[in-house]
Amino acid sequence: MLSTIESVLTKSWYLTDPAADSGLIDGNPAAGPAETALESPRHGLATRFGTSLNLILRQGDMFFADGRHREVNRHEVIGREHPVFVTSNPAHIKSLMTADVADVRSATHQSPIRPIVGPDSVITAIGERHKQQRELLMPEFHGSAIAHYQSAIERSATKHIDSWRVDKLQPLADIGQAITLDVIMTAIFGIGDQHQATRAELELRKQVIKFLSRSTMPIAPLAQVFNATTDEAIGLTKLVLRPLDKAVYAVIQERRRNNATGSDIMSVLLAATRANGDKLSDQEIRDELLALLLAGHETTSNTLAWTFERLTRHADEYHRVQDAVRADGEDPLLQAVIYESMRSRPLVPIVGRQVMRPWQIGDDVAETGSVALISILLLHHRDELYPKPFAFQPDRFLNKRIPPHTFIPFGGGNRRCLGATLAMAELQIVTREILRRVDLKTHDRPGETPKHRNVTMIPANGGIVKARRIH
Ligand code: HEM
Repeated sequence: MLSTIESVLTKSWYLTDPAADSGLIDGNPAAGPAETALESPRHGLATRFGTSLNLILRQGDMFFADGRHREVNRHEVIGREHPVFVTSNPAHIKSLMTADVADVRSATHQSPIRPIVGPDSVITAIGERHKQQRELLMPEFHGSAIAHYQSAIERSATKHIDSWRVDKLQPLADIGQAITLDVIMTAIFGIGDQHQATRAELELRKQVIKFLSRSTMPIAPLAQVFNATTDEAIGLTKLVLRPLDKAVYAVIQERRRNNATGSDIMSVLLAATRANGDKLSDQEIRDELLALLLAGHETTSNTLAWTFERLTRHADEYHRVQDAVRADGEDPLLQAVIYESMRSRPLVPIVGRQVMRPWQIGDDVAETGSVALISILLLHHRDELYPKPFAFQPDRFLNKRIPPHTFIPFGGGNRRCLGATLAMAELQIVTREILRRVDLKTHDRPGETPKHRNVTMIPANGGIVKARRIH
C-alpha cells in the first residue's frame, strides 16, 4: 500500500522514460455474463472520498500504479452503491462494448456530465430514449453531411491562423477552440459566417467559453465530488451553469419565435416528434444543445492542443510531418501523427458501462448495477499492443491495420462518439493548415501535465506554443 502511494506521489506516468515499458499486467481475458457475484466489503466515507478525489485529480497515476499490480482493479467511490471496476484488457472491453444493452448499458447517466447536460441528451439518455435521439441525430454526422462542413472548417482555420501573433506564447487550445466552436455553431445553428450569428447565438458562444474556463478553477474538482451523488447540478456547479442556461433558453425561444427552418441540427430538434406525436420540450432541447456544444468542440480543440504539445517536443517528427504536408497536403503521415497523439494523450481517458447482471471481468465478477470503467489511457499503453508505449512514434500507425478494441479514442459499440467523423475531419484539416502555414517554435520544457476536467484529460497549459512565422 505504502509503496503504491509513494510511487504515485513521486512519479507521474507522463514523465516516464520513453524507452521504458509500462509494465501493465496482461491478465485473464475471460469476460461476459456470470452466475453470481461475491458481495464486496464496504469502506468508510473518508476512504471513498479520498479515492473519488484521487480519481478526479490523479486518475492516470492511480490507474498506472494499480495496473502494474493487477489487471482489473476495484475502487469504492462517493455516490456508488457498488465498487467500480477498472480494466484495459481488449477482451473485457469487447465484451462490455458489444453486449446486449439490456445486459450492459452506458454509465453516463451517472457520470459527472449528467448534472451539467441533464438527463435528456443523447450522451446521458439510456435505453429507448437514447436509441431514438441517436437515430435522430445520426444523419447530421454522417460522412456526406461532414463533407458539407469541409469549407467551413477551412475558412475558420485560415481566419484564426491569420490572426495568430508571431513570437507570442499562446495556448493552442484557445486557437483550436475558436475554430471548433465556429464549426459546431455552423453544424447546430446553420451559421454560415460567424458575422451572421444573432445576438442570442453570440451570447451563447460567449457563455460556453466562460463556463469551460471556470471549470478549470482549482475548486472545480471539489464541486465535481459534491455533484457526484446528484442528478441535478447543486452548489457552485449550479451557480456557474445559470448564465449558460439562460443563454441556451434565449436561443431556443428566438428560434421558436422566428420559426426558421433549415438543414441544421437545431431545425431537426425543433421539428422532431416522439412516438406519441409530442414535440421536444425546451428543456429536452436545452440538454441536447448543451451536450453537442460541449462534447462537440472542446474535445477536438484539446486534441489539437495535445497534438502540437507532442509535436513541438519531438522535433524530428514535427519537421518530418511538416515537410510531408508541405510537399503533399494529404500525406498518410499526418493521420498517423494525429492517431499517435490520440493514443498517447486520449482526450477522454475512460468510458463507463454499467452491468445489469453479474458480469465476469477477468478474475473478478462485478455485481449487478456495478460500473466498469474502460481505461482508454491504459489500453493505449499496453506493452503487448504498443511496445515502448511512452515514446511518441507516429510510425506505429503508418499504413497499419488497427485490430478492433485496441485503439478506441472515440469509445465503441452503440455509444461510439457520434461526432467522430466530424472530429477527424477537423483534426486533419486544422493540423494540416497549421503545419503548412505556421512555423512553431519548439519547446524544450518537459511535457505539459495532463489535467482532468470533468470527463476529459486536457494539457494543463492548453498546449502552449510560439509562432515564429506565418506563411
Ligand atoms: C477528438 C474529438 C473527440 C473525442 C476524442 C471524442 C470522444 C468521445 C468518447 C470517448 C465518447 C464516449 C463513447 C463511449 O462511451 O463508448 C464520445 C461520445 C460522444 N461524442 Fe465525442 N469525441 C470527440 C468529438 C466529438 C464531436 C466533434 C462531437 C459532435 C457533436 C461529439 C459528440 C459526441 C456525442 C453526441 C457522444 C455520445 C454518443 C452516444 O452516447 O450515443 N464528439 N465522444
